Amino acid sequence: MLKINNLEVVYNDVALVVRGISLEVPDAGIVALLGSNGAGKTTILKAVSKVLYSEEGEIEDGTISFNEHLLNELSPEQVVRKGVCQVPEGRQVFDELTVDENLRIGAYTRRDSTNIRKDLKSIYGYFPILRGRKDTLSVYLSGGEQQMLAIGRGLMSRPKLLMLD
Ligand SMILES: Nc1ncnc2c1ncn2[C@@H]1O[C@H](COP(=O)(O)OP(=O)(O)OP(=O)(O)O)[C@@H](O)[C@H]1O
Ligand SMILES: [Mg+2]
Repeated sequence: MLKINNLEVVYNDVALVVRGISLEVPDAGIVALLGSNGAGKTTILKAVSKVLYSEEGEIEDGTISFNEHLLNELSPEQVVRKGVCQVPEGRQVFDELTVDENLRIGAYTRRDSTNIRKDLKSIYGYFPILRGRKDTLSVYLSGGEQQMLAIGRGLMSRPKLLMLD
């Protein structure tokens, strides 16, 4: 499904933090990426999602393809539309939005409102504690609740591939 071939990533034109990484995620498979702190795991995920570009990061070499489509030149939004979603490390929910608004924002690229409502219901089913706090500003959630919200928000895009950092 996802193929990364010989990836090289540089931050700020100078800091080479990922070099010669290749990996493959098969259909219906789960792949775990292991490495010490600072090894480049998050950077690899950001290269796939293209969040990298908002942090002065560049893909200097290599290819990233998803179901045979090359992702290298796409924007973050286009990557989500292809069906790839990143759940960031450190939660990173939208503090000033409610739980419900955070989840709905996960469906930003979708227009199928009936299915969006269904998915919202499913996510409140997976994480019932969120349902009880649906109108609470997410900044007031506990750490674990924010983590649930970040995962739920990712699922709201109906991804084919969910990258959990
Ligand atoms: N925006 C950035 N600008 C410059 N350097 C960065 C940036 N983000 C990360 N780095 C550097 O890139 C390297 C890899 O960082 P990354 O966050 O990918 O590591 P990681 O494997 O996810 O670590 P951890 O297990 O601690 O989450 C580190 O040396 C880090 O300091
Ligand atoms: Mg990391």
